[in-house]
Amino acid sequence: MEKGNILEIKNITKSFGGIRAIDGVSFSVKKKQIKALVGPNGAGKTTLFNILTGIYRADSGEVIFKKEKNLFSYKPHRLINLGISRTFQNIQLVDSLTIKDNIALGLHSAIKTNPIYVIFGLSRKQEREVFEKVDKVSKFLRIEEYLLKFPNQIPFGVKRLVEIARALVSEPELILLDEPAAGLNERETELLLKSIFRIWERNISILLIEHDVEFVTSCSHSIVVMDSGKKIAEGLPSEVMNDRRVIKAYMGE
Ligand SMILES: Nc1ncnc2c1ncn2[C@@H]1O[C@H](COP(=O)(O)OP(=O)(O)OP(=O)(O)O)[C@@H](O)[C@H]1O
Ligand SMILES: [Mg+2]
Repeated sequence: MEKGNILEIKNITKSFGGIRAIDGVSFSVKKKQIKALVGPNGAGKTTLFNILTGIYRADSGEVIFKKEKNLFSYKPHRLINLGISRTFQNIQLVDSLTIKDNIALGLHSAIKTNPIYVIFGLSRKQEREVFEKVDKVSKFLRIEEYLLKFPNQIPFGVKRLVEIARALVSEPELILLDEPAAGLNERETELLLKSIFRIWERNISILLIEHDVEFVTSCSHSIVVMDSGKKIAEGLPSEVMNDRRVIKAYMGE
């Protein structure tokens, strides 16, 4: 691992049947960096997140997170204890639980039990510790007024923040955000941007997937562009967004 990096992705390849979803992709994320992963639909962005978080095993290549290699088949609690957490492109909140309990699910690692016991099987002391952390992170993201509501009672933009809160409550060193701005209106996007900067100020490294090029150029230090499974560009936002291949990938011929 090169000094200053928190994550290294080396020559990752992944196929599904005949589809080469990821084709020899390499890049790294530095400590305290906001890195964006952009690219058209089907470029392989989410698949890469799924490899990083051990959901899929890469056909070849290597992922190094701090001192750990290839996180494939790591249990969620092990990933969280390592200091890596994520959000999902399709919001995954449990409708039958309050926002507070949904956020608490992000801590089930620390207690090493079935997630459901986070809420129902804890000692008084553990329960207090969990909910102190939930309170802290929800204040940090300014969503504390929603804690006792259920997912179907809150605006879409708040749901996205709840997902981020659930990922942050375990105090990760690296957070992976899969299209956090998708579906947000202008005001919600503005709020999200501020939250991202405040997360970064806490020395958390951020890798985020995004479609919205304007959003990405305004919040990231470095951008990786993927198209059809391949990395086609990487660099500063200003450089990458003027790259001929990137414009072509986005605009077509
Ligand atoms: N579990 C799977 N089984 C089969 N094919 C898959 C699977 N997951 C992804 N793919 C395929 O891999 C390719 C990359 O998909 P992926 O979801 O990673 O793209 P993406 O860049 O996240 O796109 P989007 O911007 O639409 O979210 C697509 O062709 C997709 O259909
Ligand atoms: Mg995706």
